Amino acid sequence: MARLFTPYSLRGVTARNRVVISPMQTSQAHDGLASDWHLAHLTRFAMGGAGTVFVESTAVEARGRNNHGDLGLWQDEQVQPLARVAEAIRREGAVPAIQLGHTGRKASTQKWWRGNGALTEADAAQGEPPWLAVAPSALPVGPGWPTPQALGTAEVEDLVQAWGSAARRAREAGFQVLEIHGAHGYLIHQFLSPLANQRTDRFGQHRLRFALDVAEAVRQEWPEDRPLFWRVSLADVVDGGLEFDEMVDLLRSLKDRGVDVVDCSSGGGISSYPTQGKSVSNDLTFRAALAARLREASGLQVMGVGLVIDPRTAEGYLGAGQADLIGLGREALYNPNWPLHAEAALSVNRDYASWPQSYRMHLLRRAASADALRPSFSPGSAT
Ligand SMILES: Cc1cc2nc3c(=O)[nH]c(=O)nc-3n(C[C@H](O)[C@H](O)[C@H](O)COP(=O)(O)O)c2cc1C
Repeated sequence: MARLFTPYSLRGVTARNRVVISPMQTSQAHDGLASDWHLAHLTRFAMGGAGTVFVESTAVEARGRNNHGDLGLWQDEQVQPLARVAEAIRREGAVPAIQLGHTGRKASTQKWWRGNGALTEADAAQGEPPWLAVAPSALPVGPGWPTPQALGTAEVEDLVQAWGSAARRAREAGFQVLEIHGAHGYLIHQFLSPLANQRTDRFGQHRLRFALDVAEAVRQEWPEDRPLFWRVSLADVVDGGLEFDEMVDLLRSLKDRGVDVVDCSSGGGISSYPTQGKSVSNDLTFRAALAARLREASGLQVMGVGLVIDPRTAEGYLGAGQADLIGLGREALYNPNWPLHAEAALSVNRDYASWPQSYRMHLLRRAASADALRPSFSPGSAT
C-alpha cells in the first residue's frame, strides 16, 4: 500500500489520503468575498482526488491583503461565500482547509499580471488605490518600496484579536483544518525577524510574542477536534535574520499552544537558516533534511511541499519519515487530477474506482477503446 494513499487522521478529522493542495493565492476576490470562480477552482482539486484542499491565504483584516483580489475573513459577510466553497470541497470527499494570513509591509501590491510592484496612483485610476501598509517597524520591504506604518502596542493587541475573530469565522464557514501563515516575510514572520522587528515594547523585546499570542487567540476559537497547521519559511539565507534555533523554540512553544503540523515552505528574505552554503531552492529535496530536523526537534507533524511532480518522490519522503503530508502547488494547477493519476502510477488503483462516479464507466470504455486503437497505451497510466 502506498503511504501517500493511506488515510491521515489528526484530532477529529480524517483525510482520505496524504495529498494536500497547498494554499495558492489567485487574486480573484472582490472586497475579500469568494465567488463562483473560487468555488469551481477549489472544488476541482477535491474532484481530482486530493485528501485536503486549502483555500489560499485569507486576510484577517483589510489592511493585511497583499492585493485587492485577496480573500478575507475580517467581517461576517465574508463567511457565507466561503461556506459554499467548504461544503463543495467536503461533498467531493476532501477535507476543506483554509489559510489565514496578513502580509504586513508586503500589503498594497499590484496583482501579478499588473506587475507585482507597490500600488501607485496609476493603479488608483484603474480602481485599485494603494493603502498604507502596517508592520512591526517602519521599515520597507526593500529600496524603492513604500515605508509601512509601525503598529502601536494597542494596535498589535487588536490584531491578535483579529486573528481570533477570523478563526471563529473559518469555523463558522465549516472548514476542518486551519493554517496560520507564519512564512514568506509576511506579518508574523516580520515580528519574528530582527531584520523587520526593531520594536522596544514587549512585542520587540520578545520577538516570538506576537506569534504565540496569535496561536493562543486562534486556538481559543478553533475547536479542539480540528487540526491547526503553521506555515514556516524553513530555509533562507539572509545575514542577521531569524535563526533556525529560534524557529525550533517557536515551534516547540506553538505545539504547547495546540499547533499540530508545521508546513515547511521557504523564503521571505528575513531569516538566516543553515543552508550549508547552498542558495535557497523551493524544491522539497532541498528542504527535506531541514524539515526532518524540525520534526524531530519540535515533535510536530510535517507537511513537505516544493516541486513535487513524481508521486514516487512523494512516497520516498513519507517512507523516510521526512514528511507526514505532501503539499502540491503548481503541479495541481497544471493537473488537478494529479492524485488520481498518482494512484494509478503507484498501482493503488488502476480501474478508476476513485474517480467521480459519473466518469468511471466512460473512462473504462475509453481505456478499452484506446487499448484497441493504440496497443501501447496502458489503461490507468499516469499520463
Ligand atoms: C499561484 C501561487 C499562489 C500561492 N499562494 C500562496 C498562499 O496564498 N499562501 C502560501 O503560503 N503559499 C502560497 N504559494 C506557495 C505554495 O503554497 C507552495 O508552497 C509553493 O508553490 C511550492 O509548491 P510547488 O512547487 O508544488 O508549487 C503560492 C504558490 C503559487 C504557485
